[in-house]
Amino acid sequence: MGISMDVKLDFTAEERKILLEEMQILEHNISIFDWGLRGFRTYASAVFTLPLTNFMQTIGYNKKKLVDLNKSDKVILNIGCRDDTNNDYINAELFPSLGEMWRILRGKRRIEYDLFLNICYEDKNLLEVADGIILSHVLEHIPLNLALVALKNCFKYLKKNGCIRICVPYLGRYQQPLNTSYEKAKNMLAVNTIIYCYGHKVMYNVELLKLLMAEVGFSQIEEVNFQEGLLGMSDLPERQPESIYLTGIKI
Ligand SMILES: C[S@@+](CC[C@H](N)C(=O)[O-])C[C@H]1O[C@@H](n2cnc3c(N)ncnc32)[C@H](O)[C@@H]1O
Repeated sequence: MGISMDVKLDFTAEERKILLEEMQILEHNISIFDWGLRGFRTYASAVFTLPLTNFMQTIGYNKKKLVDLNKSDKVILNIGCRDDTNNDYINAELFPSLGEMWRILRGKRRIEYDLFLNICYEDKNLLEVADGIILSHVLEHIPLNLALVALKNCFKYLKKNGCIRICVPYLGRYQQPLNTSYEKAKNMLAVNTIIYCYGHKVMYNVELLKLLMAEVGFSQIEEVNFQEGLLGMSDLPERQPESIYLTGIKI
């Protein structure tokens, strides 16, 4: 599309090209989780994930797995771990989607985590088993009406004096002073990406997250810095620039 002669943009030709390309990528990534063919494919691939995870929980898969893992030292649950499995925690994830199952069957992927866990569906076998829970970039994927359910389940899985560390993306990280029009436009695209991509459902700030944590019973809720405070060693460096971190204790 050509630009009208009377319009003066504050971008160089190269900047304009980059911004328009990034807009196309944004549109593509949003449509993956939206209606239309691409959205339908994602939906169809994931449609069995939650019921199958719930089913595995109900038949006691996690109970057996916990016994097999034979953890004598501290139990730290890393819920919604995805690829963050190279650690000393007990890693939990949803049951694989159809797409992932297909890759697993073809030997292109392996299930590297320990438990099948839908954070919104109570697992009676996990009650009071954990000394700590890590929830890194998971809560923003949970619909707001289930956020309290998810946090309440975490609370129930903790032993007395157990702690939780929650890390979520924070839009405030994008509210920095910017100089050029190019930086400002790019920043707006980044904000849209955080809000509308990756299947994100809700954005939080410290105050809102604190409220929800308090509501389910956590005490000593604190905002902490990257790799500081309770379970700080679990923080992933790639998450630092866009994240806030809160910790709480079940007393
Ligand atoms: C962005 S990834 C975070 C991965 C990792 N914790 C990290 O910080 O890099 C979000 C993960 O949350 C998981 N997730 C989404 N909804 C969930 C639910 N209801 N119960 C458990 N995990 C869930 C997704 O499967 C996904 O792997």
